[in-house]
Amino acid sequence: MDNPFTYPDPDALKAARDRLAQLPPLVTSWEIEKLRDQIAQAQLGKRFILQGGDCAEMISECASAPIANKLKILLQMSLVLIHGLRKPVTRIGRFAGQYAKPRSSPTETKELEGCPCTLPSYFGDLVNQIDFTESARTPDPFLMVEGYKHAALTLNFIRSLLDAGFADLHHPEYWDLTFFHNASVSDQRRAQYEHMSRTLADGLSFMENLGEQRVEDSSRVDFYTSHEGLNLFYEQAQTRQVPRRSGYYDLTTHLPWIGERNRQLAGPHIEFFKGIVNPVGVKVGPSMQPDELIQLIDALNPYNTAGKLVLIARMGASKVADNLPPLLERVKAEGRTVLWMTDPMHGNAATTASGIKTRNFDDILSELESAVDAHNRAGTILGGVHFELTGEDVTECLGGGSGITEADLSKNYVSLCDPRLNYQQSLELAFLLAGKMGSQ
Ligand code: PEP
Ligand code: CO
Repeated sequence: MDNPFTYPDPDALKAARDRLAQLPPLVTSWEIEKLRDQIAQAQLGKRFILQGGDCAEMISECASAPIANKLKILLQMSLVLIHGLRKPVTRIGRFAGQYAKPRSSPTETKELEGCPCTLPSYFGDLVNQIDFTESARTPDPFLMVEGYKHAALTLNFIRSLLDAGFADLHHPEYWDLTFFHNASVSDQRRAQYEHMSRTLADGLSFMENLGEQRVEDSSRVDFYTSHEGLNLFYEQAQTRQVPRRSGYYDLTTHLPWIGERNRQLAGPHIEFFKGIVNPVGVKVGPSMQPDELIQLIDALNPYNTAGKLVLIARMGASKVADNLPPLLERVKAEGRTVLWMTDPMHGNAATTASGIKTRNFDDILSELESAVDAHNRAGTILGGVHFELTGEDVTECLGGGSGITEADLSKNYVSLCDPRLNYQQSLELAFLLAGKMGSQ
């Protein structure tokens, strides 16, 4: 086992791993199998996947409003996509476990009491704490147990909301965000959304009036979780065999993914994820070469199983038109069954003159549109999108309908990690994507 950080106390690590291994799973193999079927449908263009949430979840933010708002924005975006693409949409949260973050450097050096001090980087709440002190930055294995507990609390709330009908397509009004009516959504977008949710609800009652039964399949929505499987101790401790199924399931989440920095063919992450039966995501950045991609696909999905492998391309707006097509063409030519998704966030980092980390709405949109065009030209299917977003009214990404400027960024910049789309920017992107893909 080899993580990009080190736990200094092996006894504490063993105790935390033993504890996690004893605790019940966070998700079940039934749910994982169902998601795999849905990914297989998306590979054929019969379904679309919407994956989104925070860059890094914080344990301190495990509270009802942020969770409900993230769920609501994903539900609202999915409604826009169902309507625009005329196909079912599967929602996968980047939450209930997105607590571990890859870093470009394992250490960080800063002045501390007048002297330069080098400490481990902050790897997310599952590993260490953000304060720049030795005790906060030392990886603490019991934070894995804390992360597990907060993932469980988050999931419990989401499952209860969904079971109670929060996501019933007959009542899209339940999903309206508390500030929807005064958020800076343009009148046109608001009217478009309201019209669309009414049409959808009317369509459902019409269908139900014609038949004798409720349209069960479409009245309830499923919801899945995902996170970057960075901390292999955490993933391994919850990886088990289950009765009457073969293979090992990673039961921390439905869809773990491997980040751009940890996808080396001979690396520990690929090695670990080869051994589980869950569908697995892999980020595919601009340096990926076609040969390397085929090797990676064969390592993670040796039997070319449908629904098993999700490739999340994150090229950047300026590179996607050149770098994505050779990969699409090669995978198609070699007959590999994968789900292609696009993450238009991680290749589009920008820094303002005053040093604030941000992303430009126009770059995000441009990467998304270029990816759609590239798939159309290659005759392949863009089966999903991956966003960093929040249901809150934050000011972290520039642009969008309400025109967030550099001066606005400081108004409500909350993320400790990457900048997220706010509620309005997220909804707007869903409309623009539905418009682009739906018109084809
Ligand atoms: C992320 O998804 O938060 C992330 C770090 O992405 P990537 O691995 O693509 O850089
Ligand atoms: Co991120």
